[in-house]
Amino acid sequence: MLKLVQSERLILIGLLVLSAIPCIGGIFRLIELSTALEFLPENSRIVSVPVPAVFHIISAVIYSILGAFQFLPSIRRNYPKWHRSAGRVLVGAGIVSAGTGLWMTHNYPIPDNLQGMLLYAVRIFVGLSMSAYILLGLSSVLKKRIAQHQVWMIRAYALGLGAGTQVLIAIPWLLTVGEPSGIARDILMTAAWIINVVVGEWVISIKKNDYQPCLSRVQLETQSFQS
Ligand code: HEM
Repeated sequence: MLKLVQSERLILIGLLVLSAIPCIGGIFRLIELSTALEFLPENSRIVSVPVPAVFHIISAVIYSILGAFQFLPSIRRNYPKWHRSAGRVLVGAGIVSAGTGLWMTHNYPIPDNLQGMLLYAVRIFVGLSMSAYILLGLSSVLKKRIAQHQVWMIRAYALGLGAGTQVLIAIPWLLTVGEPSGIARDILMTAAWIINVVVGEWVISIKKNDYQPCLSRVQLETQSFQS
């Protein structure tokens, strides 16, 4: 039976709630595509070319939900095989999610009020960065550089969770100003990714401070061994 400490429970709930928002929307979109039911505002791009969107939604759901469990120290410590197997699935899911996101950004005829030049450029940058971070995280773990592996995977996951933060920060705008559109929408979507990057770097800096005392102890022991 998996036992999580209080801080891990909070991390897990926070990540799952943030992931759930776009995932639920995505699952409704999949139901719409496979039945005659209608829940969401129409997206003619997805209706006419559904394959990339279907792959995008399925991979993004796997990446954000399963990914949340990878950051729990108890799981990494007590179930290392699970962490490794889930990690392999997540590398694939993350690359497919970012790759299909890039494809849709460039090839879907997204109207200017839903994606201006700013959002286009940011999505291309985010999709490429997320893929690069996942591959760097994979390469680090294969070289047994665990601290580096964690840093790259935190960065990749922070970008992936941008979709959840986008919904969260769009809600107050929707309630006060109305449906975000045009440059305001581009800026809101970009701001969400910036927030996630800042939070990700903050988490990384906390982890670095955690490593520091261990590092200096090892250095001290090495020094005393040498003298
Ligand atoms: C892993 C986190 C992500 C989740 C959970 C997610 C979720 C979704 C969902 C549910 C949709 C369907 C929207 C609809 O039904 O209208 C969608 C569409 C889309 N996503 Fe993502 N996404 C993620 C990452 C990304 C990334 C990194 C990019 C950019 C490279 C991206 C670019 C797009 C684009 C361009 C569309 C189509 C938008 C449109 O047609 O207006 N997504 N995403």
